[in-house]
Amino acid sequence: MTTDAASTLASRRAFLRFLASSPAVCAAPSILAQNPTDPYAPEFIASAADAINVFDFHEVARQVLLPGHYTYMALGTDDGGTLRANREGFGQYRLKMRRLVDVRQIDMSIELLGESCELPIIIAPCGSQKAFHPDGEVAVARAAQTRGVEQVLSTVTSTAVEHVNRARGRPVWFQLYTNPDWEGTQAIVRRAEASGCPVLALTVDLPASNREALARFRRDTNDECQVCHAPDAGVIAPKPMYAGTAINRPDTSFMDWDYVDRLKDFTSMQLVLKGIVTAEDASLAVEHGVDGIIVSNHGGRSENSGRSTIECLPEVVDAVQGRVPVIVDGGFRRGTDVFKALALGADAIAIGRPYLWGLASFGQEGVETVLDLLARELEIVMKQAGTVRIADIGRSHIA
Ligand code: FNR
Repeated sequence: MTTDAASTLASRRAFLRFLASSPAVCAAPSILAQNPTDPYAPEFIASAADAINVFDFHEVARQVLLPGHYTYMALGTDDGGTLRANREGFGQYRLKMRRLVDVRQIDMSIELLGESCELPIIIAPCGSQKAFHPDGEVAVARAAQTRGVEQVLSTVTSTAVEHVNRARGRPVWFQLYTNPDWEGTQAIVRRAEASGCPVLALTVDLPASNREALARFRRDTNDECQVCHAPDAGVIAPKPMYAGTAINRPDTSFMDWDYVDRLKDFTSMQLVLKGIVTAEDASLAVEHGVDGIIVSNHGGRSENSGRSTIECLPEVVDAVQGRVPVIVDGGFRRGTDVFKALALGADAIAIGRPYLWGLASFGQEGVETVLDLLARELEIVMKQAGTVRIADIGRSHIA
């Protein structure tokens, strides 16, 4: 990001903090509330500690980010059908609560692919995080460390894997966007391996996509964007994971199952496929020896199938039959969402935008608070369902 862009972002943030902490504004709560007639409407918050739920961070992110960066984060494909479906899908499942269980001690920890995690919540890979906060992936890694959660780092990270691993205190999982340049791809995979990453998450759900919202934004504000984004502007650092390779962008449309085999043979990391949404592909993935599956539609950013990931999850779980762990992401914003996925057979869930909202709003503390709020809500629903360990949660809890 340019110095200009960074300082615009910093001053927007400072102004909002001033506004939210100003006595005049505090005396008039209707200025802060989005919709004072709706007690559930998100509010602008002056500090991470003021957040009541993760949506409060969305409001701050919307205000502090440069409009183009906010659009990039928020968008779905076409008219956003799958993006909405991901949220609406949770409404199709209702929970059966159980009574009279001693739920004073709740244990939300899990073991996943040989690693211990305090929560069944994973930080999904999202690229270019310095567009959201100057500390980018390092702030997220520090939050992942203090909250003991797994973090998956994008190929198009704005911070090199070695730095992120140092901030996390243990190696993160590495997400791979391939490119037909096998030599360059090998170099990226070798680098992640050399830095100790135990898991390679190969993203398979983005052979093409139609991101109209971003295209429209760029058309209307091209000059503003080009100040930083023009190829010859020289103000955006190249993606650090592409250093020393001839690759400068993902290109994944050539991939097939032979490629999965080739990658599996090549790397010593455990291989997880990110973006599986059908029983057929889940069965093929297990046949091809993958170590895990992430049910994902890229947060509604790839296809416009209209299918939510929570709707895709049961058929994947049934096809896998416990042979490898199943993780799911897409639209998780509430403890009840997490509980529903675990009840339908997921081993863990991942979040994308919620932690980016936290990051954009208050850096590391914002990400930590997003994780705390989801953990708090999950703990509450576990108590209501009479489940004291994650392993106690099952399909009998779904109505
Ligand atoms: C993503 N996602 C993503 N996935 C991936 O495999 N590699 C990547 O670099 C990115 N980059 C990225 C950027 C941004 C801004 C977003 C919002 C998402 C998808 C991400 O890993 C995850 O699948 C979704 O974000 C999950 O949905 P929610 O939680 O955002 O609804």
